[in-house]
Amino acid sequence: MIIDNGKLNKQQRKAVETTEGPVLVLSGAGTGKTRVITDRIVYILENNLAQPWQILTLTFTNKAAYKISKEISISDTSFKILNSKELWMGTFHSICLRILRRNFEHIGLKQNFLIFGEDDQKSVLKHVITNLGLDIKEYNPFVWVDKISFEKDKGIQDKYSNKELNFDKIYTAYNAQLARLNGLDFGDLIIKVLELFQIAPDILEKYQKQFKYIMVDEFQDTNAAQMQLLQKLTGNNFNICCVGDDDQSIYS
Ligand SMILES: Nc1ncnc2c1ncn2[C@@H]1O[C@H](COP(=O)(O)OP(=O)(O)O)[C@@H](O)[C@H]1O
Ligand SMILES: [Mg+2]
Repeated sequence: MIIDNGKLNKQQRKAVETTEGPVLVLSGAGTGKTRVITDRIVYILENNLAQPWQILTLTFTNKAAYKISKEISISDTSFKILNSKELWMGTFHSICLRILRRNFEHIGLKQNFLIFGEDDQKSVLKHVITNLGLDIKEYNPFVWVDKISFEKDKGIQDKYSNKELNFDKIYTAYNAQLARLNGLDFGDLIIKVLELFQIAPDILEKYQKQFKYIMVDEFQDTNAAQMQLLQKLTGNNFNICCVGDDDQSIYS
């Protein structure tokens, strides 16, 4: 095992072995929080508490997900676990994309829907703003990419937080244009899964049953939309372990 448990300090070991119920680990950078996640996955698998596909691990970067799976795959586990592909591990965006690729038809998407990056978003906005008869000097598409992302990061809400003149119009027209193009922006990846779970509670229930253990790395960077998603996915199962550094929040 990577995890010679003797090597973990007392708090790490406690976080690794407390598999049932919620666990929150807060400590500074480089103190072994991601290591807790890695070891916890191996611990759960080694003790037959779940199959790989029943463990959901959310990371903030692709690099972190890669690092965790690499460490697991080179670990000298007593059984040949992985096939780390069987684990559900990745960024919130990549996990949501995986869910949407399997369930796209429920939310009005066509197969092979496209992901729109910042440049694509900008050109859609330029088109939309011009079509609304507004001046792109006043409504700079570059700035509006951020305004729209900011709104989507809030998740599903009753009212827009942005009360600016014409926000409503531009936001609606932008989303309609994306829909026509069978495209999603990054913010949509989370929002559309939230919508999917609203429209199809049976699909939500399927994932809630599937994920016996949920782990979140860099929890301090979780935005409101991602929090809504976590709340949905955990449901009544509170086997969730979040690790983070409250001094490092990018939102503080
Ligand atoms: N108990 C430990 N003993 C030895 N090395 C450790 C221990 N815990 C973590 N490490 C190592 O320290 C480094 C930082 O750990 P990491 O889990 O990435 O920290 P964090 O996620 O808190 O920033 C990594 O190289 C990791 O393998
Ligand atoms: Mg870390």
